[in-house]
Amino acid sequence: MDTLGVVATALWAMLPAYVPNNAAVLAGGGRPIDGGRTMGDSRLLGDGKTWRGTAAGTLAGTLVALGLNAAGPAVSELVGHSLPSFPLLAGVGLALGAMLGDIGASFLKRRSGRKRGAAFPGLDQLDFVVGALACAFVLAPVWFGTTFTLPVLVVVVVATPVLHVVTNGIAYLLGLKNEPW
Ligand code: CTP
Ligand code: MG
Repeated sequence: MDTLGVVATALWAMLPAYVPNNAAVLAGGGRPIDGGRTMGDSRLLGDGKTWRGTAAGTLAGTLVALGLNAAGPAVSELVGHSLPSFPLLAGVGLALGAMLGDIGASFLKRRSGRKRGAAFPGLDQLDFVVGALACAFVLAPVWFGTTFTLPVLVVVVVATPVLHVVTNGIAYLLGLKNEPW
């Protein structure tokens, strides 16, 4: 596969994982997942991880995957490369995994004494990537193996933090997020 094909595949395949966190920011609120419970001196997850945000994010990412399936043939022709389509379980895995990765990161942040909204460089940018890839691997292993070849994985791990910083910066400037990370 040529370089353009690898980059296009990586971004396309990760789109259902990029959207959930942003959807959660827009739709979040209501009951926190941890129900206010604490572990030690800190909240288990904190008020920033809600049932509504998690459900909305998972749904949004899954719908993006279905939308990409519809747009795939036309866009593939445009970029001159056959882009992957998403079996339902692959879409759900990427979307739900992105949310779970983010939730796992909040768990670690609270354990390390970081308050809600505190930055954890590195973890903030890659938590949802690890979650999405792991969950997609579990729910759709064959699809995962054919889609995420080693070069594609390398592009995902390098390009995602950059995209994440840019999109969160924009969300912050638009007043949608309280912090630019
Ligand atoms: N959000 C949500 N449910 C999730 C993830 C996010 O409701 N599973 C919403 C919350 O309103 C949250 C906002 O999106 O405040 C921003 O998400 P994020 O930056 O992940 O949460 P923080 O509030 O910064 O909390 P944390 O320190 O735990 O990351
Ligand atoms: Mg945050």
